[in-house]
Amino acid sequence: MAQESLTIEDLFCQVGGCRRCSLGETRRCLVFGKGSPGAGVMLVGEAPGEKEDETGEPFIGRAGKVLDSVLAEAGFQRQDIFITSVVKCRPPKNRFPKKEEVAACLPILQRQIELIKPRIIVCLGNLATRSLFDEQAKITEVRGKWFNKGGIKIMPTFHPAAVFHDRNKLEAINEDFHQVKEVLGNIKNESYQF
Ligand code: URA
Repeated sequence: MAQESLTIEDLFCQVGGCRRCSLGETRRCLVFGKGSPGAGVMLVGEAPGEKEDETGEPFIGRAGKVLDSVLAEAGFQRQDIFITSVVKCRPPKNRFPKKEEVAACLPILQRQIELIKPRIIVCLGNLATRSLFDEQAKITEVRGKWFNKGGIKIMPTFHPAAVFHDRNKLEAINEDFHQVKEVLGNIKNESYQF
């Protein structure tokens, strides 16, 4: 098989000026994602909000603060994982992304997954779960359970913003991230044995 020479930085340069959908006309920054290019865990959210659009950084607004608390509680550092979203440009007024926007953007996420080769993907909310795992999935039914897709372990959980409507969801997200930490530890231990 030919050696992959494209890096995650190269991909960013390729897609930074994307105009594949109309969000390219209204966004300020394309929010590509951030973290370790060799991350074992990748988090996939929905779409950037206002703060992310201003800065190009993923999850730095209100939902990002919730995510930071969850990461700290489970013992993750942002720089050790890779954080991105299904849709890379902010939908106006933070509306839900349209089907055609998701379809236009998904190839970037798929390419990111191919390059980073995470062992675990955490789908944050319905859109990521449906886009990456099962179009029919309901987050309330699948969250906290492990699935497998193409050799990658998938853990769907609630989007951190869901906590603003239902505080109890924070406990569920924390539980799910603890599972992710434990399973990542097991994967690392297994690979040391060879
Ligand atoms: N919500 C998301 O899904 N992604 C971000 O980057 C910010 C908020």
